[in-house]
Amino acid sequence: MNDIIKGKWIGKPLDRVDGPLKVSGAATYAAEHDIDAAIGFIVEATIAKGTIASIETANAEAAKGVIAVLTHENAPKMAPWGDGADDRFEQSHGVLVDGTIRHYGQPVALVIAETLEQARHAASLVAVTYDEQAPALGVDRADSELAEGLDGGFEPTNRRGDFDQAWAESDLTVDLNYTTPHMIPAAMEPHSAIAEWDGERLTVRNSLQVIASGVACLANTFGIDEENIRVLSPYIGGGFGSKLGQHYDTILAAAGAKKLNRPVKVVQTRRNLFHAGPHRARIEQRIRLGATRDGTLKAVNFETWSTQAIGYFYTEGPMASAASAYRCDALHWTGKTRQANETLNDSMRAPGEALGGVTFEAAIDELAEKVGMDPLEFRLKNEPTEDPASGKPFATRDLVECMKRGADEFGWTDRPKEPRSRREGRKLIGYGMASAIRGNMMQEGSCRIDLSAGGHLTVKMDMTDIGTGTYTILTQIAAEALGLHPDDITVDLADSDNPATAGSGGSFGAGTSGSALWNACIALREKLATAGGFNIDPDEIDFDEGTMQAGDRTVALADVLKDSDGFSAEGSIKPGEEHEDYVQNSYGAHFCEVAVDMDSCEIEVRRFVSVFSAGRILNRKTAHSQCLGGLVWGIGGAIREELWMDERTGGYVNRDLAEYHVAVNRDVPKCDIIFLENPDPKSNPIGTKGIGELALCGAGGAIVNAIYNATGKRVYDLPVTLDKLL
Ligand code: MOS
Repeated sequence: MNDIIKGKWIGKPLDRVDGPLKVSGAATYAAEHDIDAAIGFIVEATIAKGTIASIETANAEAAKGVIAVLTHENAPKMAPWGDGADDRFEQSHGVLVDGTIRHYGQPVALVIAETLEQARHAASLVAVTYDEQAPALGVDRADSELAEGLDGGFEPTNRRGDFDQAWAESDLTVDLNYTTPHMIPAAMEPHSAIAEWDGERLTVRNSLQVIASGVACLANTFGIDEENIRVLSPYIGGGFGSKLGQHYDTILAAAGAKKLNRPVKVVQTRRNLFHAGPHRARIEQRIRLGATRDGTLKAVNFETWSTQAIGYFYTEGPMASAASAYRCDALHWTGKTRQANETLNDSMRAPGEALGGVTFEAAIDELAEKVGMDPLEFRLKNEPTEDPASGKPFATRDLVECMKRGADEFGWTDRPKEPRSRREGRKLIGYGMASAIRGNMMQEGSCRIDLSAGGHLTVKMDMTDIGTGTYTILTQIAAEALGLHPDDITVDLADSDNPATAGSGGSFGAGTSGSALWNACIALREKLATAGGFNIDPDEIDFDEGTMQAGDRTVALADVLKDSDGFSAEGSIKPGEEHEDYVQNSYGAHFCEVAVDMDSCEIEVRRFVSVFSAGRILNRKTAHSQCLGGLVWGIGGAIREELWMDERTGGYVNRDLAEYHVAVNRDVPKCDIIFLENPDPKSNPIGTKGIGELALCGAGGAIVNAIYNATGKRVYDLPVTLDKLL
């Protein structure tokens, strides 16, 4: 950590630097690039498992405007699904390779026409017959195996302490089974791509959170060198994990463009994405907790069963929420999974803690009640001094501060504590709280910066801005480090020709790319200090408003730059030993009030007070927006969102945003969002910690605990909808 950051730009609620482009429609999303592309439309499989027996395309080919119909019989050569790499984002995403169907909605043909309407109509003329097999669908505890790993880097089992003994020594226990449903990230911008080939060289403009692994995926899929691939994704309308990797839009656009030797655009429809886009798997969870009469947590056992898509190794681990939460004598977990004929089960915002923050925090609430303790007091009493899962020290730990501050702001101690004890007319009012804990990850990344002779700085990296404000926070970091005005900085992102980063995901994006940029700026300060005739440590020099200043010497940057060719520097970051030796988390606490209608059981979330600690805050406006978004997601997960699978076919029946209910404006109350700003030098050079997903963690837990407090009824089958309360 350094004293260079004085907060002139870092931390300020700077408006988004890309805001004017976005509100004027000038920010080009993937499907909006002005390229004369033919349009591809996907024909979906209508079975979950089997092979194509026949595919009849003549009628579609004869339809007006149709240029080609791609099927497994004539598509350009692609490597089979899963080949080429162990990493799920780098492995081949080959499609139309053979006639094998792994899941309902899988593309079986791409109809390419001059217009969308022509392609869409012709797609309805493709006739497919199948040799159908019985699919494996849904969770099956008896048919599950230990996952090879759990998302977030967690082992599939953890055995710290002697659970049986701790369980036996507990006076009070809970043994609870929860289910959480299939969900879908449902980014506003659907998965979209425009691909073009120039000989062996492939250029793709698409909507992608991580550029470098997306290039590797295309190389593995089409058998070409990474050097021959360029991927650009300058503006992204939300990803939430669903765009971490390449998907059917991009692979099919590239295949179509290769076949036609002409650019092809594919935009997945909302309904196709509900069947063929990445999902959150349905998960069954069994949580056993034990405590002694004085409220000492003794035993924690967290078991999960879920499903994996065929050939795509990803298992979500809700037990992440228990890993760093509360002191206990024994903490065991087991994550089991089963290969199923479902579409990609993959990362969805705050994988692990988004679910565990509901179930585990609800189980803790239930145990605290059995003990007869206030749920806040119970959590405070069981605050750990070391990480319960690993025994490692925490890099920082201010969960207690978050809880105490939130309780004060909310008025927690004054609330009526008995369930079902407060009424307003025909409404039952309840209060709930939960902890927010989310692993703070760092990845590798690098950056190049060029300061022109005219004093304009260009930042280049393949980092993406998925709507979170990356362009803005990187501008602020460079402005702070180099004493430049944001207007004198251009941030150039999401181009695979730029230095590689880990992109946006896992809440590591700002810390990783921001640190790489910071290190580049530090290197540039050294060059400028030398060029300016300073013989002292550049850290001792104040870079401000276009000058370098130390003691009684002030040098204008313009004077140093004017006779130069400009200055460039590179910077990089990788997670150091402090990410090995310490357990790194961001923290928070949620307090929430709900009203439940006594007649209809309609649930209204009425108030949220949430306190977050995520290290240094880079931009108070965008950070606030991220956290508000997390609360909205928390509401969706607790009381709205669920995908219903038709277990006969493996298709989803509520496959659009009319039938799949995300939380909307009307569902979101006044939310007080408070930051404790504790920069964390063990996290990275700028002291930030992950913030994007933090607020989602535990938000749903506070809601379901408040629903219990209002109604006296606990629901274990998420989401808590009115039919389950009635
Ligand atoms: Mo996030 S679910 O890693 O985009």
